[in-house]
Amino acid sequence: MSDALKRQAAEAAMAEIRPGMRIGLGTGSTAWHFVDLLGARVARGFECLCVPTSEATATQARELDIPLATLEDIDSLDVTIDGADEIDARFRLIKGGGGALLREKIVAAASARMVVIADQSKLVETLGKFPLPIEVNPFGLAATRRAVAGVMDRFGAEGGFALRQRDGATFMTDGGHYILDASFGRISDAEALSRALLDIPGVVQHGLFLDLCHEAYLAAPDGVIRLSDR
Ligand code: 5RP
Repeated sequence: MSDALKRQAAEAAMAEIRPGMRIGLGTGSTAWHFVDLLGARVARGFECLCVPTSEATATQARELDIPLATLEDIDSLDVTIDGADEIDARFRLIKGGGGALLREKIVAAASARMVVIADQSKLVETLGKFPLPIEVNPFGLAATRRAVAGVMDRFGAEGGFALRQRDGATFMTDGGHYILDASFGRISDAEALSRALLDIPGVVQHGLFLDLCHEAYLAAPDGVIRLSDR
């Protein structure tokens, strides 16, 4: 997606922000634009308190003097604005392309609303073309891999999975975990798949966000559309 479309989606989502709000800050290249725009507002005196979903977003927010808090300091957030790798018509998401899915899900779950910003190409009929990120504990990795492969078989995955790499080494999340990127092709029962994956002891979390998001700003060359099921 072009950077201009990411920026437009982020700009449109600024309409959700009110003074004094507690805001969850997403992770990724689209969320980066939202944080950048929010930083410009803060520089002009806008008051808010934000919880970042990754170390990368925390660093960006600190550089912009955006006031930060943790979920230890506050119990709930008004809204989280975040990107997505896929979104379907029921606002179910695949997230975690940037590796921040665990913190993203914790922050989204602590928010009254989660609003996705993305370009329209992320809107899909069926989830699963984007490989599903599955965050796993490094301990017992071989056993977890076997169990994940079994679940993928049961759910008719069209491909296998890969242990995520970055810069020639195994990618490690902010929480010190690994990520398996699982190529399902199409996910026909996301709710059942979610439960099956979470039943595996070594699985910390997965990138299916179900019933967490109900609004999205999707940017296309002819403008930004706002979708909501509320
Ligand atoms: C990070 C994420 C991102 O929100 C997702 O990968 C979309 O990123 P981008 O805006 O760069 O396309 O889930 O864990």
